[in-house]
Amino acid sequence: MISEYKKLMRKCIKLAEQGAGKVSPNPLVGCVIFDDDFNIISQGYHEQYGQNHAERNAILNAKHDLKGKNLIVNLEPCSHWGKTPPCADLIIEKGIKRIIVGMIDPNPKVSSKGIEKLKNAGIEVVSGILEEECKKLNKVFIKNQTEQKPYVTIKTATTLDGKIASHSYDSKWITDETSRNEVQKLRNFYDAILTSSQTVIKDNPSMTCRLKNGRNPVRIIIDTHLNTSENSKIYDNNSKIIIVTSDKTPKAKIKKFPSYIHFIKCSEINNYIDLNEMMSELYNNGIYSIMVEAGGRLNYSLVKNNLVDGLIQFIAPKIMADNNAINSFYGGHADKISDCYNLKVESTKFLKKDIMISGYFEK
Ligand SMILES: NC(=O)c1ccc[n+]([C@@H]2O[C@H](COP(=O)([O-])OP(=O)(O)OC[C@H]3O[C@@H](n4cnc5c(N)ncnc54)[C@H](OP(=O)(O)O)[C@@H]3O)[C@@H](O)[C@H]2O)c1
Repeated sequence: MISEYKKLMRKCIKLAEQGAGKVSPNPLVGCVIFDDDFNIISQGYHEQYGQNHAERNAILNAKHDLKGKNLIVNLEPCSHWGKTPPCADLIIEKGIKRIIVGMIDPNPKVSSKGIEKLKNAGIEVVSGILEEECKKLNKVFIKNQTEQKPYVTIKTATTLDGKIASHSYDSKWITDETSRNEVQKLRNFYDAILTSSQTVIKDNPSMTCRLKNGRNPVRIIIDTHLNTSENSKIYDNNSKIIIVTSDKTPKAKIKKFPSYIHFIKCSEINNYIDLNEMMSELYNNGIYSIMVEAGGRLNYSLVKNNLVDGLIQFIAPKIMADNNAINSFYGGHADKISDCYNLKVESTKFLKKDIMISGYFEK
């Protein structure tokens, strides 16, 4: 029985993934309805923010009476009114007899209430099926709900010896086209890309999503003293742009920039933006997930401030061996190996020439 549930839960996860890039700040959810012989009767997923939840779509897609059937879903059904009515009520109304759930809703205000409502209506509830995979799928939603901060991943492209640019700031291209295409897919997933004034000045990147039917992420540039040129490529009008600058930056400097650019002002700590304050401000401005594409100094500052959840590193089979080249993380101090930041590797992928490693910071 449990192995059949696991198989169906994997299907829910696959369905849910189709909502990536479209449902933020909602969770990714997929749902399957099946009979006692495990024949699939119907399925659905949360397709677009503000629209039907996965359970409602699966129920609406069913062509037959659902009385006495089973429903499996990766996240506990909701029991409260949000943009749509509670899914638990519809499940009860349709006479479904058993619910299989991957994980409890991490929102402390609704957590376990959906399951409680279903149990009170006499429905059998089995929970915790493939819980770890379900949590991985909704890592952004969990961080948002529990910490009210964006989920942050650093992406770097390095040589085998950890360099991201030469001493003359040449960085095009460390990795090959296949790796760079993977980055385009990632840009489609995250709400926003975060970069630094230095990277804009040295590289003049666009940081758009060039996938067919892709979605351009919000582009966030940290520029404490507003040193970037208003003519930089990144300041085109292709997607929302946020510049994070010091609360001491003169108005006259800001006025030089096009009016479609949003400014967030933050305090300074030692002449740099207070990154903790910045993350809270970004969250309050609707940024729920961020991919950082910056140099070693900003990368390290974010890690030091405990603001980073994940790392995706593309490693090219090259060795730069230059003491003055730019490191992917720079500015720290480690006397001993035990001073290192530790990560848990989630996956490794061989691309055409390069390797892609994804992991989480151990907290
Ligand atoms: N291969 C890759 O994956 C990759 C990706 C991106 C960039 N790069 C390369 O990285 C190079 C730049 O690296 P970098 O190490 O010199 O610069 P960086 O880490 O990109 O940027 C450092 C700048 O960030 C700003 N900043 C604001 N608040 C900060 C804080 N709290 N802590 C630290 N920095 C803060 C500061 O500029 P302000 O004072 O102006 O705010 C600082 O000068 C470029 O040549 C680029 O090509 C490579």
